[in-house]
Amino acid sequence: MNKYVVILAAGKGTRMKSKLYKVLHKVAGKSMVEHVVTAAEGTNPNKIITVVGTGAAKVKDVLKDRSEFAFQKEQLGTGDAVMAASELLKDLEGVTLVATGDTPLFTSETFNNLFKEHETSGNSATVLTAKAPNPYGYGRIIRDEAGNVLRIVEQKDGNEAELAVDEINTGVFAFNNKELFEALKQVGNNNAQGEYYLTDVLEIMRKAGKKVGAYQMPDFSESLGVNDRVALAQATKLMRKRINEKHMRNGVTFVDPETAYIDSDVKIGNDTLIEGNVVIKGNTEIGSESHITSGSRIVDSKIGNGVTVTSSTIEEAEMDDNTDIGPNSHLRPNAVIRQGAHIGNFVEVKNAEIGENTKVGHLTYVGDATLGKDINIGCGTIFSNYDGVKKFHTNVGDHSFIGAGSTIIAPVNIADHAFIAADSTITKDVEKYDMAIARGRQTNKKDYWHKLPLSQDKEWK
Ligand code: UD1
Ligand code: CA
Repeated sequence: MNKYVVILAAGKGTRMKSKLYKVLHKVAGKSMVEHVVTAAEGTNPNKIITVVGTGAAKVKDVLKDRSEFAFQKEQLGTGDAVMAASELLKDLEGVTLVATGDTPLFTSETFNNLFKEHETSGNSATVLTAKAPNPYGYGRIIRDEAGNVLRIVEQKDGNEAELAVDEINTGVFAFNNKELFEALKQVGNNNAQGEYYLTDVLEIMRKAGKKVGAYQMPDFSESLGVNDRVALAQATKLMRKRINEKHMRNGVTFVDPETAYIDSDVKIGNDTLIEGNVVIKGNTEIGSESHITSGSRIVDSKIGNGVTVTSSTIEEAEMDDNTDIGPNSHLRPNAVIRQGAHIGNFVEVKNAEIGENTKVGHLTYVGDATLGKDINIGCGTIFSNYDGVKKFHTNVGDHSFIGAGSTIIAPVNIADHAFIAADSTITKDVEKYDMAIARGRQTNKKDYWHKLPLSQDKEWK
């Protein structure tokens, strides 16, 4: 059986009150339309066609070659939107699943079930339905006494009895493809919204003597449609539950899964512990037996095994196995922390490699630098990398020691086994086994106390 999927994503999404096109609003780090495409891909269709409108360029940019595109000139309704795909589809044999781009929670499994149900029933159209706890806003499924589906009535068109029905149209259908495009020609716009409704296809087919039916899914939550920010938050919450339960089944411990905000594509190894109030975003990967404490935010980063992240922010950075960071430190893009290295508190690292077992314990900035192994960086060290125009690089060799409070003014090379005395301002290269000391010498003035104004003022002089 040939399978096609049409995803409707041309509506403006007025109810979102947003500059951003509705289907591009994100749920757990991915736009809603991407979630729908991912679910569609899981059915191995011959084609996926996304119907786009005013925000076409932006949607194409997000989906790239994962979909073909059809353009709907004016947003005249869901029926008109499917019509926009007519040129790409109408002559093909097979079954077309239509879904909307604002229902991010559908799974491939549900789409596959609908395809199967449609095939075994011999229907021309099968609508995916669910019993909604609050059906307001959805189309209602109207059946006769024998339970046969008669038609779908929209919220704005329904009478009291129709609106009392709690079985809703999830917005997903399977159609005999050729029959769908035949029926669409007959859809009118004589309704409360003056739109061409896709939902009318059911009644049109039935009246033409074709078999139409419904497949009711057991759980409503997958079919949540996002029309405003309230529903967006609900969808995000449901998605979070799904994501975190997947990780728990894979052996990750969550102290409070309700407050661990993890994007869809994040990977986490088993026996890792995630505390509450943690944010993990984008393409982040975390290994096994790591520990992420509350207050941490990790974005597009690679964290190895046995790593401890304590209340720190990590962006586009890498931490190898058995490293640790925090509390309150910041890895910025291109920070690479090699095995066994230690990043303590109030440390910022940017575009720099911290070698194996090197320790950067406290209050330090390392920018544009390559640090070797087993180095000790004293408290309050600053790698001064910027002259206001350009960035410059510093190298520090293995086993070196940088005393507390030093400023290393790049570009400079500090060799292996070099020793920088505390509070030095380093502007020149330092060779192997040398000590550099670069600070004003101390002078002590004998009995100077008595010359100070302070000493005259006080009774205890
Ligand atoms: C629609 C259904 C409703 C169903 C609900 C499920 C119709 C008439 N109504 O209502 O029965 O319960 O979805 O979530 O089909 N779109 C276009 N072009 C248009 C209009 C809409 O591409 O001209 C797209 C939108 O981008 C959106 C989707 O179609 O992704 C659904 O449109 P929307 O206006 O949200 O329909 P609902 O009122 O939610
Ligand atoms: Ca909708």
